[in-house]
Amino acid sequence: MFDFGVTKMAIVGGIALIVIGPEKLPRVARTVGHLIGKAQRYVADVKAEVNRSIELEDLKKMKTEFEDAARPAVNAAAYPYTGQSGYECMPQFISDARGPFGRNAAPTRAIRDAIREAGFRTPVVCTGGVHNFKMAESWLADGICDIVGAARQSLADPDWSLKISLGRGAEVRTCEFTNYCEALDQKHKMVTCQLWDRLDLDAADTLRSPDGKRRLVAPDWPAKPITRSGSE
Ligand SMILES: Cc1cc2nc3c(=O)[nH]c(=O)nc-3n(C[C@H](O)[C@H](O)[C@H](O)COP(=O)(O)O)c2cc1C
Ligand code: SF4
Repeated sequence: MFDFGVTKMAIVGGIALIVIGPEKLPRVARTVGHLIGKAQRYVADVKAEVNRSIELEDLKKMKTEFEDAARPAVNAAAYPYTGQSGYECMPQFISDARGPFGRNAAPTRAIRDAIREAGFRTPVVCTGGVHNFKMAESWLADGICDIVGAARQSLADPDWSLKISLGRGAEVRTCEFTNYCEALDQKHKMVTCQLWDRLDLDAADTLRSPDGKRRLVAPDWPAKPITRSGSE
């Protein structure tokens, strides 16, 4: 704004010379120059003020994030996510026909391949929507990753791998990916699973949340008697 090129200045000067006349032109030019200078300074001041308030907003946001990290404010947390791959695993953010199941497999394979091609043996973890052994084992067998992570399934049933290794896979409590647990976490409440946090609440040995409404540890599952031969 208020920037004139040489050609424009020459045209304006020519018109002014004709309209105002050679005697008055220097005085008028000085006044116009003075006014333009004032306008430029005003615009620069406004710009600086706008920049300062934007910086101030950024600083305020950063301050909130640091404070939240140090002492999370209930229901007002600045909640960081690990970008697209994180959102894709969370049905409340991205809900499409593919669902949250195993959608990080392809990008993880590409990352692992690149690491191997560069000559490194760094172990690579893949997670996101893993809820059965078939998927986990196929990822390891196919070279998608070296370690499989399962967050929600392990919360839904902390003993799921033990049950499978004992041949009791039918008893595994399967995660429904509702994200009830993650919503509790966002509110800085103790994380539990909706599949079991109301079961046997009144039993004497049940460890409960401070409001007494949810159990904090998954219920036991019946151990089958082990015979002398070692078979179940
Ligand atoms: C209780 C809970 C809390 C989580 N908190 C975060 C978080 O703070 N930041 C983040 O990027 N992902 C968070 N996640 C997402 C996990 O890191 C992971 O991406 C997601 O659970 C996918 O793995 P899963 O399908 O095995 O659960 C959270 C998940 C759960 C269940
Ligand atoms: S609360 Fe829902 S999403 Fe979380 S572990 Fe339990 S079933 Fe899965």
